[in-house]
Amino acid sequence: MVSSGAPPGLHGRAGAARLVIMQTLVVDHPLIAHKLTALRDERTDSPTFRRLTDELVTLLAYEATREVRVQPEVVTTPVGEARGVKLARPVPLVVPVLRAGIGMLDGMIQLLPTADVGFVGLARDEESLVAATYANRLPANLAGRDVFVLDPMLATGGTLETVITMLSQRDAASVTAVCLLAAPEGIERIAATFPHDDEPLPVRVVTAALDERLNERGYIVPGLGDAGDRLFGEI
Ligand code: URA
Repeated sequence: MVSSGAPPGLHGRAGAARLVIMQTLVVDHPLIAHKLTALRDERTDSPTFRRLTDELVTLLAYEATREVRVQPEVVTTPVGEARGVKLARPVPLVVPVLRAGIGMLDGMIQLLPTADVGFVGLARDEESLVAATYANRLPANLAGRDVFVLDPMLATGGTLETVITMLSQRDAASVTAVCLLAAPEGIERIAATFPHDDEPLPVRVVTAALDERLNERGYIVPGLGDAGDRLFGEI
């Protein structure tokens, strides 16, 4: 079952030409809840954390790709003709946000093996909590393309706001953020983000849980700690 944390709607501000149609899906499924509980547990080691992340992302990807564009395709079976569909071109773009988003890439590509992959790197300053971009490998033109952003923790929303703005400036057709966990503060910030352009940009957040809040260090409570450290070790 999927619950919609914020109903689809237009969030606008005077002077903003481009409207963001924001939708939040909290995927409520016993397998997801089971895996997420193990992921949160501080006793879970890195190999298990990586495997659980992989599995969770594949389950979330099933919901996240529900509206991916397809085109008609007719195939011949051993007993006749079948009318079906195949993924429309241009193929979707998957964008893991470095570093922690890399831990979500395999799980997403399992369901979208033909997708292209772009990369953005953002690091947040632990004092100001402001995210700064240190890497950007995105196609210059994303017209007509569905984009899936992989970022395990939607906390303040600063990182996702920056990435959505980059994708909007490249004319992405839609942006779906796949997050293991989200905080209400991050969801609210994304819903209030207005890139400036003249076409509406559908934005969706698909997450396994909407947690209580952020703490004073910008960590999601109860959350799971630092996703990058738990996936790849402390740096
Ligand atoms: N990033 C993390 O890794 N964890 C949080 O709780 C918030 C941001």
